[in-house]
Amino acid sequence: MEISPDTQARKDLISTKFIEIYDNSPEIWVQAPGRVDLMGSHTDYNEGFVLTQAIDRNTWIAARPRKDGRVRICSLNAPGCSEFDLQNLTHDEATPWTNYVRGVADILQQEGYTPLGFDGLVHSTIPFGSGLSSSAALEVATATLFQALGRLQIDPVVIAKMCQRAENEFVGLNCGILDQYSSAMGKAGSVLLLDCRTITHETKPIAPGLQVMICDTRAERALTGSEYPERRAQCELGVRILTGFYPHIKNLRDATLEQLQAHQSDLDPVVFKRCHFIIAENQRVLDVAEALASGDYLEAGRLANESFAGARDLYEIVSQEMIAMQAAIMAAPGALGTRGAGAGFGGCMVAFVESGQEDTFTQYVTRHYQASTGIEPQVYPGVAADGAGILEFYNAPG
Ligand code: GLA
Repeated sequence: MEISPDTQARKDLISTKFIEIYDNSPEIWVQAPGRVDLMGSHTDYNEGFVLTQAIDRNTWIAARPRKDGRVRICSLNAPGCSEFDLQNLTHDEATPWTNYVRGVADILQQEGYTPLGFDGLVHSTIPFGSGLSSSAALEVATATLFQALGRLQIDPVVIAKMCQRAENEFVGLNCGILDQYSSAMGKAGSVLLLDCRTITHETKPIAPGLQVMICDTRAERALTGSEYPERRAQCELGVRILTGFYPHIKNLRDATLEQLQAHQSDLDPVVFKRCHFIIAENQRVLDVAEALASGDYLEAGRLANESFAGARDLYEIVSQEMIAMQAAIMAAPGALGTRGAGAGFGGCMVAFVESGQEDTFTQYVTRHYQASTGIEPQVYPGVAADGAGILEFYNAPG
């Protein structure tokens, strides 16, 4: 494999730190990418669709196996190291990011696998809390490492599901499958139309002429706040009411806007707004997948803008910085449409931009967003990357 100068510099940095910390060299390197969702906010836990791609920002773990069933883990992105016994997994309050690692170890064991110990060093190019799934990338990288060290044969979809359980049950955030699935299953150069009911995907093309751009507001976002579980509970409440009228509705995926509107007066107004957004957003995922594949970029942009408006007015997950970013993006050369990535409440926006306009777009958005918020954003292409895997494994058991 050809190693780019950036990759080599990253390797050298991690190797040097690894030796400083553990007095020995790593023997195995794994990676798991972040993701950007092109359409489908909060549709995953409603058993809906998401158009998603893994990106070329990722989390690496360099590691060296241990024989005593213990894990020592440090990160170049977050302070503190943590050490634990795989037979006695507890939460770590002092270095909470290590709970993603502990959680994956816990779920693997619950599923009957035997994870082996290691000394590990994490390095990520996915900014934390930016809506690009830094947590899922750490979980999936950890699972990939345990899988390689233990020579476990685990299907990547099963990896994604176990990592989601680690986040739900060990870390305590009731997320859907989107992030872990994208990180485990991404495909270079492709977007995935993910069906969160069957947990399968179809690979979809983007016709030439359009570039996906990631525009990071760099406004911090705390997802463990009450907002995410609250949105989820509001959707579930809506489903309980709709099921009373339409027994086949098991999830918002099954409901139509007509059915919802027919029972507007039976629903709390906030619950109505939440359900309205999800049902419309779900349809937009299917529509945008078609528009992108056929090269109807005006339509794709229109759908993105509609998604943004719904996220702002109905689902209420849009922050002031996202509004400032949207204004900067939509005034920029080549912009077709934009919407929030991930859970919302800050973080990144994803923009559809005419190919060839990337540089002028980036300059314009950077200047105008910074002028209106005082925050320097980060704007870069969303390059579709492969899902998690082993980068190198010296002394791999024969
Ligand atoms: C977060 C969650 C995902 C998904 C998105 C919103 O990234 O982890 O499961 O719900 O928000 O679409």
